[in-house]
Amino acid sequence: MALDERLAACRDRVERALDERLPGPSIAPVRLHEAMRYAVLGNGKRLRPLLVYLAGEALEAPGEALDAAACAVECIHCYSLVHDDLPAMDDDDLRRGRATCHRAYDEATAILVGDALQALAFRTLARTPAVEDGARVAMLETLATAAGSRGLCGGQAMDLAAAGIPLSEAELEAMHIRKTGALIRASIRLGGLCARAPEAATLERLDHYGKCIGLAFQVQDDILDVAGDDAVLGKSSGADARLEKATYPALLGLEEARAFARRLRDDALASLEPLGERGEGLREVARYIIERDH
Ligand code: IPE
Ligand code: IPE
Ligand code: MG
Ligand code: MG
Ligand code: MG
Repeated sequence: MALDERLAACRDRVERALDERLPGPSIAPVRLHEAMRYAVLGNGKRLRPLLVYLAGEALEAPGEALDAAACAVECIHCYSLVHDDLPAMDDDDLRRGRATCHRAYDEATAILVGDALQALAFRTLARTPAVEDGARVAMLETLATAAGSRGLCGGQAMDLAAAGIPLSEAELEAMHIRKTGALIRASIRLGGLCARAPEAATLERLDHYGKCIGLAFQVQDDILDVAGDDAVLGKSSGADARLEKATYPALLGLEEARAFARRLRDDALASLEPLGERGEGLREVARYIIERDH
């Protein structure tokens, strides 16, 4: 299957699985549940779920376990976007082509949406079917570490602290591998942990792949903020420049940032070589990440 078909199939699959796990819009408290569904359903690329499925399928993991892991990472991701857009953080009005959660609802609701989605992620993982208890605990720990102060939240703290302050390349990398890289890397690990008896060497290779594409993803996100279709057409806020964020294009220049993303892609591809055919989907994702235009 071509990558766009796979992405589309994955989007449908995870959308259904999320819909089943999110409380219905008529369940009290109605406003909170509606807002949670607004923040999660519709329009996301679902890249992290795709990585869960592709890594898991490469190791023949059971599909129902992968559904749970895919939902859990997407819930964490969506919560992080809702909070990232809040006035106290990036203060953005648009997300996924429509009003941000705090704009469509209100700030207090958006804060609670994030809190509740984070809890739903761990509840979902705790109920992962078709894996042994040991694997389930490892999955919980993996996601908790990636989402916490050593991962995503830590990266967000570094991002906020760096506004208006020039960072060195090492500092920028330390921030990016946490704020975006950690969850992407965890997605691949979670897919691997769903497999019955994954080989340690294979998991390590997948982990290196995850580290490289996680960083490449944020480098490309920064590039798109200044040079993506929306930025060029004046449709996006170019929020990074407005908020004087530390980014790769700002530090290295656009061309050098693009070259860095290509080197990360090549490093990711090299670590998949021993997987042969089984790694094809993951290879395509590595290429897609730095070629995407949105
Ligand atoms: C956006 O992530 C925020 C970052 C971590 C850079 P995505 O580009 O994956 O956002 P969606 O899920 O497709 O909206
Ligand atoms: C988002 O980074 C990272 C997380 C949400 C953890 P950005 O602030 O660059 O993401 P966008 O550009 O708003 O999607
Ligand atoms: Mg941000
Ligand atoms: Mg932002
Ligand atoms: Mg950005």
